[in-house]
Amino acid sequence: MTVHDSVLDLVGGTPLVRLRRLTAGMSATVLVKIEALNPGGSVKDRAALAMVRAAEESGALGPGGTIVEGTSGNTAAGLAQAAAVLGYRSIAVLPDTIAPEKVDVLRAYGAEIVRTPARLPREHPEHVNNLAARIAAQTPGGWLANQYDNPANPEAHRRTTGPEIWKDTGGAVTHFVAGIGTGGTISGAAAHLKEVSGGAVTVVGADPLTSVYHGGDGSPFLVEAAGHYRHPDTVTDVWPRSYDPSVVDRILAIPDRESVLTVRRLAREEGLLVGGSAGLAVAAALRVARELGPGNTVVALLPDSGRAYLSKYHSVDWLRRNGFLDDDRPGLLAERIGPEPVATVTPQATTGEARAVLAAQAVLPVVLAGRDPALPASAAEIVGWLVPEDLGSADSAALPAVPHGRAPFTVGTGETVDEALDRAEQAGAELLFVLRDGRLAGVTTPAALRA
Ligand SMILES: Cc1ncc(COP(=O)(O)O)c(C=O)c1O
Repeated sequence: MTVHDSVLDLVGGTPLVRLRRLTAGMSATVLVKIEALNPGGSVKDRAALAMVRAAEESGALGPGGTIVEGTSGNTAAGLAQAAAVLGYRSIAVLPDTIAPEKVDVLRAYGAEIVRTPARLPREHPEHVNNLAARIAAQTPGGWLANQYDNPANPEAHRRTTGPEIWKDTGGAVTHFVAGIGTGGTISGAAAHLKEVSGGAVTVVGADPLTSVYHGGDGSPFLVEAAGHYRHPDTVTDVWPRSYDPSVVDRILAIPDRESVLTVRRLAREEGLLVGGSAGLAVAAALRVARELGPGNTVVALLPDSGRAYLSKYHSVDWLRRNGFLDDDRPGLLAERIGPEPVATVTPQATTGEARAVLAAQAVLPVVLAGRDPALPASAAEIVGWLVPEDLGSADSAALPAVPHGRAPFTVGTGETVDEALDRAEQAGAELLFVLRDGRLAGVTTPAALRA
């Protein structure tokens, strides 16, 4: 009989599983490391426990102390789990885009929750990292875990994740693929794998298409917890110190569509219920494996379980409403949206610029500054819409604020016209922003759809 002293003894030691169906036609072996089998449900158990232990050793965290972290959820779960076992209070500062299921998990562990808007400029006092730092400083016995810059984060992966992969593959691993959030996972695991293989293991970062880590434009993407978003008003973009780009040989840019459809296939074809960043990593691993011959072993790390995302990537409705899944049904909205891009303006436009756009179309979608001109605005960047009467008469005036009630209502190319009309009616929406791949593909009205 094996008895563990606490649940914290079960952190790490996760298994590798071979992909069987997604790799059809490929010569290389693709193995996935199932981090959802950590007791707190994600790879973040490793960094959380290591950071707490290091803080106890240094004296930064003492008896009766409070653990504070700004996080997208999983690190907070790992910290709250450790806090419950070790007798600390824990406070999680969360951006408001986090899946509700994740917030409920933190509450269940007894963590206190502070919400703050997502996508603020890095300098903003309410930015998740700044708010967490302030709360830690103002709380007696408060300690900020700060996974972004805490060396115990990558060190946890250098000591555990990397060695586990080397040992479990019997040294056969040739490629390691992981997403980059704080960078702790890839930097630490890669450092070990490079060292033990004499540099032979190739390390591949999997990055959302618009993440800045590979040089993307920094605009929003949908895969949670991986990649690096840059707010347009951020002055100095700071990368986490937990990320060491020097150990990464290659970064692949993966569109959200490829990530979310890979998540869906992992569940349906491999029996692996995982989160969005796992789809991102596997999508990149499959791209790598396709180029390789026999004798190569690609290991992809799958950070967490799909249970936290049942209402997102694993929901057929969500996939259709964001334009990721255009399944074979009659009357899809996709058929009613042309390929030509919609003309838009940013909130910084003048009324003259707005009028020029309105010469060709009846309404004026307002979106946050598009960065890569080749990419349409993402759903999160759609502000609302104006009509000619909003503009007044002066041509050089600043664009008026989008009136109350003109908030964007979005539908997806994967919905049928009837489904979109039903939802629009319930919401009282006059204008529908149509999304394809989570980005603006067109605008239409209920009247035009009924015609
Ligand atoms: C679900 C998920 N995927 C990926 C990552 C990125 O891992 P890392 O921060 O070690 O780079 C995280 C980190 O929070 C995560 O929670």
